[in-house]
Amino acid sequence: MDRRTFLAALGALAVGAWRRPAPRLPFQPELNLAGRYPFSLPDLPYPYEALEPAIDAATMKVHHQGHHAGYVNNLNRALEALPEWQSESLEGLLTKLDKLPAAQRTAIRNNGGGHWNHTFFWPLLAPKPQEPSPALQKRISDTFGSWTAFRGQLLDAGMRVFGSGWVWIVKTPNDQLQITTTPNQDNPLMPYAEVQGTPVLGIDVWEHAYYLKYQNRRAEYLAAVWQILNWQKVEQLLG
Ligand SMILES: [Fe+2]
Repeated sequence: MDRRTFLAALGALAVGAWRRPAPRLPFQPELNLAGRYPFSLPDLPYPYEALEPAIDAATMKVHHQGHHAGYVNNLNRALEALPEWQSESLEGLLTKLDKLPAAQRTAIRNNGGGHWNHTFFWPLLAPKPQEPSPALQKRISDTFGSWTAFRGQLLDAGMRVFGSGWVWIVKTPNDQLQITTTPNQDNPLMPYAEVQGTPVLGIDVWEHAYYLKYQNRRAEYLAAVWQILNWQKVEQLLG
């Protein structure tokens, strides 16, 4: 190799190093729900009473104006101290929780998770009962055995969450559908999740989601939520 060829090769190497892409995350979240800092409480896509009798207006109001708003405020407070992270999307923050400074990590995990999860949840509930399309029923049945078996597996998983948490259907990086659960306000975008992937359905099983109407009867709440799930939205998220 003469000197000119050597220098050209060296230059190409340098350009290659400069252009080397950032390490890939385990998956790329396909959602951008909540914008960026400062985050704000989104309006519900329906009035507080729209989901009655499955979910009463009083529960919806305190859930949205009390719990969800609290997560938004606490998330913004945690990010005040981190200007270098303020331009990240919420999905970016949640997928990179393990890179955040330890002092703010738990607050962003809990409150960023809380904001994302509720922003995701509200449009998955429909004021008018919906039939899943034949295409969605087939895709679900192919994965879980049958539509009835899927209902059973989903609601059982919701019942098995100990304490507060969420039950999800996730599209994994290899395009498989899977039911999974997370504790507290964790979700499948987070590096700590047992199953990582893009959620296409999430159901809140915190007591604050049902206690006013159902007290400790989570099974009744889950059966009522099943009746008002927005299958069109699920199908849209499945892509
Ligand atoms: Fe909630």
